[in-house]
Amino acid sequence: MTEGPTAVIMAAGRGTRMRSALTKVLHPVCGRPMLHWVITAAREAGAGRVVCVSRPGDGVAGALPNGVETAEQHRGEGTAAAVLAARDRIDGTATVLTLSGDHPMLSAELIASLVATHREAGAAATLLTTDALDPTGYGRVVRSADGAVERIVETKETEGVPPDELAIREINLGTYAFEAGALLEALDAVPEERGERYLTAVFPILRERGHPLAAHTTRDAAAAIGVNTRVGLMDAEAVGRRRIAERHALAGVTLHAPETLAIDAGVEIGPDTQVGPGSVLRGDTRIGSGCVIGPHSTIVDSRLDDEVTVLRSHLVECGVARGATIGPFSYVRPGTEIGEDAKVGAFVEVKNSRVGEGAKLPHLSYVGDADVGAEANLGASTITANYDGRRKHRTVIGAGAHTGVHTSLVAPVRVGDDAYTGAGSVVTQDVPDGALGVARPRQKNVEGYAKRSEGRER
Ligand code: UD1
Ligand code: CA
Repeated sequence: MTEGPTAVIMAAGRGTRMRSALTKVLHPVCGRPMLHWVITAAREAGAGRVVCVSRPGDGVAGALPNGVETAEQHRGEGTAAAVLAARDRIDGTATVLTLSGDHPMLSAELIASLVATHREAGAAATLLTTDALDPTGYGRVVRSADGAVERIVETKETEGVPPDELAIREINLGTYAFEAGALLEALDAVPEERGERYLTAVFPILRERGHPLAAHTTRDAAAAIGVNTRVGLMDAEAVGRRRIAERHALAGVTLHAPETLAIDAGVEIGPDTQVGPGSVLRGDTRIGSGCVIGPHSTIVDSRLDDEVTVLRSHLVECGVARGATIGPFSYVRPGTEIGEDAKVGAFVEVKNSRVGEGAKLPHLSYVGDADVGAEANLGASTITANYDGRRKHRTVIGAGAHTGVHTSLVAPVRVGDDAYTGAGSVVTQDVPDGALGVARPRQKNVEGYAKRSEGRER
């Protein structure tokens, strides 16, 4: 195969109907900017080069994956102005795929079949169309009596559009294959309409010049969705979520109630892992095999080895080794590494800490900036006082150590290997290896107290 067509992605639209400070094509769909979906599809469809058209200062150029070229649309409005901005990047003898940055669900297969139709038809221009979507607001494809593509009528504003054209259901999906030479010549002849130059205007120009036009029609409404508002964004994301879920399911992951899951595009999950209802897996998260995630767990940018359990918990930027169990109702925060077979139980928060192999933090603890040794066991409600109001300090709990319930460990402090602390202790000094540290007032009993206090009241 030759180098493949050059893809020009139009991504410089203002997208004002998103009502957002963020440029439209950078809005994430399942955790990945819309534009990245289009770039990935173009590459998978065999595009040799990808050129992205953006506007100065819109943040797009800085958000592109490696190897994507950029062109800036300094002048003019409209999709024709966008393609003209990339003119220097287009080799006059190439086939050019012109794609819209706001059709994130467009699949590689669909782009590839558009190119195939274009080649088979020997066309100068081929557009992708569908009649499977609500056509409101899209450009409608006007065909001549013999079925040939004649022109495209924009219907974002319906004023002045004749009823028979408004009745057309076949729409333009903003995805085209062009022979570059013919395209560039036609673009120069595109007139300005309502202050914009429309790429769609090249079709009647090419036709007039005797170039053959073709259309590739799809019934895949899901792949066709264009995003102009956040309603479109929801629709696109619903399609993305389903695609991601199916990919994992086919790779051996059981997804319970998949319609309740939000799994980002970049998440990896091993086979025989189960993901329970209401779970959210975000960003750069990698989960091993044989894990049980959820119901209702959120995991962000974290790595989980095999056979990890995470019930109703929230994990951010942490690592969890094989066989560990988290939750229910735990919060594991950045910089935490949970060791093999360790247990982080109910209502436990762990931050920037190492929890050793087999260690247990079963109930109601806060462990921050700590090193917990292997097989250590923290009594319920053991708390590290890691912050003195100005700085954070570390706490070390030795291997095999046991803290009593309600131990406060005032950092910096060390509880030795195999050491103990008494229940209710406020530990401010190191406890040597194997020792018991008790740091609480001795109990005093007042004999006969109840009897004496009788009669005082009432
Ligand atoms: C466009 C098509 C319409 C089609 C629809 C499919 C035109 C004139 N109309 O309409 O026929 O049915 O897409 O979704 O092309 N862009 C630029 N620079 C600009 C303007 C737009 O790069 O100056 C980019 C946008 O970021 C977007 C794409 O081009 O990714 C399409 O622009 P948009 O304004 O959304 O066009 P539509 O009105 O949706
Ligand atoms: Ca659009």
